[in-house]
Amino acid sequence: MPRGRLITLEGGEGAGKSTQIRALGAALNARGIAVTTTREPGGTPQAETIRGLLLDGEPGTFDTITQALLHYAARREHLRQTILPALEEGTWVLSDRFSDSTMAYQGYGAGLGRDLIDALHSIAIGTFKPDMTVILDLTADQSQARLEGRGEDRNAYEKLDQAFHDRVRAGFLDIARREPDRCVVVDATLPEAAVTAAAFEAIEDRLGLP
Ligand SMILES: Nc1ncnc2c1ncn2[C@@H]1O[C@H](COP(=O)(O)OP(=O)(O)O)[C@@H](O)[C@H]1O
Ligand SMILES: [Mg+2]
Repeated sequence: MPRGRLITLEGGEGAGKSTQIRALGAALNARGIAVTTTREPGGTPQAETIRGLLLDGEPGTFDTITQALLHYAARREHLRQTILPALEEGTWVLSDRFSDSTMAYQGYGAGLGRDLIDALHSIAIGTFKPDMTVILDLTADQSQARLEGRGEDRNAYEKLDQAFHDRVRAGFLDIARREPDRCVVVDATLPEAAVTAAAFEAIEDRLGLP
């Protein structure tokens, strides 16, 4: 049984990660691939508890290094208990956010910088990286409009201001520029089906499908 692949979906609030993970999971299933979908922070019962700590509060509840540590603590559990066992049994894993979110939000958004996040990454999960990352790109304005349209309560990150979200967006684009073999940027303002098609085509090109 060949090892599965980890594909991560990244991007700002309301970029369409949850929407696209469902569509891409179905498209991969239709090609005969076993898929499991998961999310960060979260993906194990313990990591979901950490998710609650990070997202339920007000912004500023935790110092930003503490936040980054909690994200990586949750990620280590997620990787060891959920992602790696699935990959080993040949299942493909689609994750709604992964390490690039910590780099974009804490590294660029909160200003901790790349080196500190790289160091935490190395301590928590070594050299592990996703096989491929789809970055759904939209402006902070467009993100705001979608959050207003969705009308749900906002989590701690969704309550942060536009300048923070501008830095997060620039961070994701910089990550993609630095790692073009792993990352593909898709215009998140295209119609849903066009976003799915662009992401699926990139997955097929880069990872190959049966
Ligand atoms: N391509 C798109 N065009 C317009 N609206 C979209 C698109 N993709 C998602 N949406 C809408 O934007 C909102 C946020 O989408 P969602 O998938 O929950 O984003 P995320 O998980 O990245 O926060 C939802 O109301 C969803 O229906
Ligand atoms: Mg979502």
